[in-house]
Amino acid sequence: MKILILNGSPKGENSDTMHITRAFIEGMKEAAEHEVRIINAVEKHVEYCTGCFVCMFNGGSCMHDDDMKEILDEILSSDLLLVSFPLYCYGMPAPLKAIIDRTLPLSSMAMQKVGDRYEHVGQADVSRLRTMMICGCGFPNSKHNFEPAVDQFRLLFHGDSTVMTVPESPLFSVSSADVVTVPRLEIVRKAGRQFAESGTIDAALLNEIGSPMIPDEQYAAIVNAGVNKE
Ligand SMILES: Cc1cc2nc3c(=O)[nH]c(=O)nc-3n(C[C@H](O)[C@H](O)[C@H](O)COP(=O)(O)O)c2cc1C
Repeated sequence: MKILILNGSPKGENSDTMHITRAFIEGMKEAAEHEVRIINAVEKHVEYCTGCFVCMFNGGSCMHDDDMKEILDEILSSDLLLVSFPLYCYGMPAPLKAIIDRTLPLSSMAMQKVGDRYEHVGQADVSRLRTMMICGCGFPNSKHNFEPAVDQFRLLFHGDSTVMTVPESPLFSVSSADVVTVPRLEIVRKAGRQFAESGTIDAALLNEIGSPMIPDEQYAAIVNAGVNKE
């Protein structure tokens, strides 16, 4: 399988979330061979979509001549688009959002009703492309936190995406937290194996990955102790 990891963290390779994503890919590789490419959004020159809509009519091209052409080619030649990003203001970070906006040429302006909502008719063949998001965040709670980003991702990618959310993700970049992060990454690896073998991940496993590694009040106390020291 050709896997494209789109790393939306402005911290690039130093992303907390990428610890989870790398463990997931390791698990996938334990089950089968895969070709994996990584695009770090923050390293790419991608102008903002200006909303001219030229790209949505008759395969028109974008007015911008930047790295987005190469990114679209990479997406279209992949079997799995794995978007890895930290939760920023209940959504995705700006460099990633710029890229997502610029995927507009994949759709035409024509609209069709699917179920109880409208979506644009595609003008590129994305039929073999599966999508997944892995999202880390700084708070210990998943509820009242990840929902907007998850809803946005599912609406963008037609509801059949796999979604993994992970609270307390700064712990993955702190070696003194190994006692809780190493076992959590092992569960993530297991999820990767399962996904490669069956195309899905058990809801119970996703729930476990989405639960706090340490109790929320303890996590908040550790964060607050650090703040009060400064
Ligand atoms: C601008 C900004 C907005 C953030 N918004 C949220 C948020 O809405 N909810 C949350 O739990 N964490 C939030 N965080 C914390 C990050 O999600 C957290 O630090 C994460 O571990 C960073 O992951 P990364 O290293 O992969 O970039 C925010 C951080 C920044 C810098």
